[in-house]
Amino acid sequence: MKDYEVGYFVGSLATASINRLLAKALVRLAPPELHLTEISFRDLPLYSYDFDADFPTAARAFKQVIADVDALLFVTPEYNRSIPGALKNAIDWASRPWGQNSFARKPSAVIGASTGMIGTAIAQQHLRSLLSFCNSPQMNAPEAYIHFKPGLITEDGQVTVESTAEFLRKYMAEFHGFIERVYTVLPLNR
Ligand code: FNR
Repeated sequence: MKDYEVGYFVGSLATASINRLLAKALVRLAPPELHLTEISFRDLPLYSYDFDADFPTAARAFKQVIADVDALLFVTPEYNRSIPGALKNAIDWASRPWGQNSFARKPSAVIGASTGMIGTAIAQQHLRSLLSFCNSPQMNAPEAYIHFKPGLITEDGQVTVESTAEFLRKYMAEFHGFIERVYTVLPLNR
């Protein structure tokens, strides 16, 4: 299979984010053909369509980074049964100005970790709805709802439970296959 550039979003801005740990683990467990880099959104101002005529530098740079990758991975917590506001703000920026939606035809996958039992399931459904509207082809399966317990992933991204590591390894292998299938139907014009 081919190599792909994958940009990933960590939905949490918290320094002790468990989703950042999950992202580190996914980077470790991904097939070598997937080159993962984080796409940060912490410097974006709050979006308003007042900016549409002239996007600020941070937003232009943000959209360019998305344009430069082949696929997107969303690693997000669930806050109040949805995605965090900062991530929603970033998605709004990327989707605009009208006609320049950065997500169009860009393959994506969603995953998340929560201290709660349902492992971000509701947030992921909200995110899937946003990505559908933004015309991003999404990996439907496997779904991945990670119930995070202390020690599950070390600070440097090592998963301490082998069955979870194996599940995440397969998840990333499936994502690789999904990206390849999307670009078989919709070839990359680079
Ligand atoms: C939470 N948490 C949470 N968990 C959950 O399963 N469903 C939820 O709706 C919420 N809501 C929620 C709101 C807010 C504002 C916070 C701060 C937290 C708990 C959440 O799973 C836990 O704090 C995780 O550590 C969040 O992930 P990050 O930010 O550490 O990656």
